[in-house]
Amino acid sequence: MSWKIVSTGRGGTGKTTFTALITRYLPPPLLLIDIDPDQNLADMLGIDLEKQKVRTVSDALYDIQMNTGYEELSSMPLPDKVSYLLQRECLYEGDNFDLVTLGAKWTEGCYCAPDDLLRATIPNLAKNYKTVVMDSPAGLEHLNRKVISDIDDLFVLSDPSAKSVKHVKRIKNITQEIKIIYSHFYVVGNYELDSESEQYLRDSGETYLGKLDYDAQVKEYNLKGESLLDLPEDSPACVSARNILEKAGYKIEGVKVGG
Ligand SMILES: Nc1ncnc2c1ncn2[C@@H]1O[C@H](COP(=O)(O)OP(=O)(O)OP(=O)(O)O)[C@@H](O)[C@H]1O
Ligand SMILES: [Mg+2]
Repeated sequence: MSWKIVSTGRGGTGKTTFTALITRYLPPPLLLIDIDPDQNLADMLGIDLEKQKVRTVSDALYDIQMNTGYEELSSMPLPDKVSYLLQRECLYEGDNFDLVTLGAKWTEGCYCAPDDLLRATIPNLAKNYKTVVMDSPAGLEHLNRKVISDIDDLFVLSDPSAKSVKHVKRIKNITQEIKIIYSHFYVVGNYELDSESEQYLRDSGETYLGKLDYDAQVKEYNLKGESLLDLPEDSPACVSARNILEKAGYKIEGVKVGG
């Protein structure tokens, strides 16, 4: 069985940080999918995709559409080409997890219907894994696009602004309107939350799992381009991420460090 987890929330709330931090606690085999055009999940995990010769899906698709490569795939229908790429040169295969990055051109006028393609191909890749985590860009469009529609755990990262609290409600409404199916809707506070705004989230009627504690090393590692997987296990960010997962019912068996 594969669990599908989506981390979502407003811009800069800490979605990618949260995704990177929980990576070390999730049961393998684990697939991470970065659907943010800014594609910084790999960076936070210390993976240099170029060096590893792993392509983003959009770069590969772009070349297919421009006929600048992949001639050997020319007779395949487009979804088959994408499936092929997702399992090969667009797949980073690490010791502890695999990673697919959709990339930047995705939003810049692909001729194909990218969302349809993802819907047709990601489940095929995901079925090889026990756990699938998707890191999303800010905003709600990705939910509207229903790339993944049956989610086990939907984590919504919230900062202390009134807008963010409204965002939690809007996400909830949108998921209901467009019939995204999920088992759990979880609210996670970001590192900026004070006790008053935490109380507000606790009273929101949604399941509030706690907050990701402020951790100066997270900022430092991000700035230096170091992997968050190398943070000490007793660092505030790791301890709080682990607590959040445990509150959501995850049994943490092994802790992974390094990609
Ligand atoms: N627990 C924390 N302690 C300290 N800094 C943090 C923490 N969590 C996140 N940050 C910092 O906040 C900033 C935004 O984090 P992140 O990139 O994870 O947010 P995001 O929601 O993914 O942003 P985007 O919407 O651009 O994708 C980063 O500079 C990161 O270092
Ligand atoms: Mg992000």
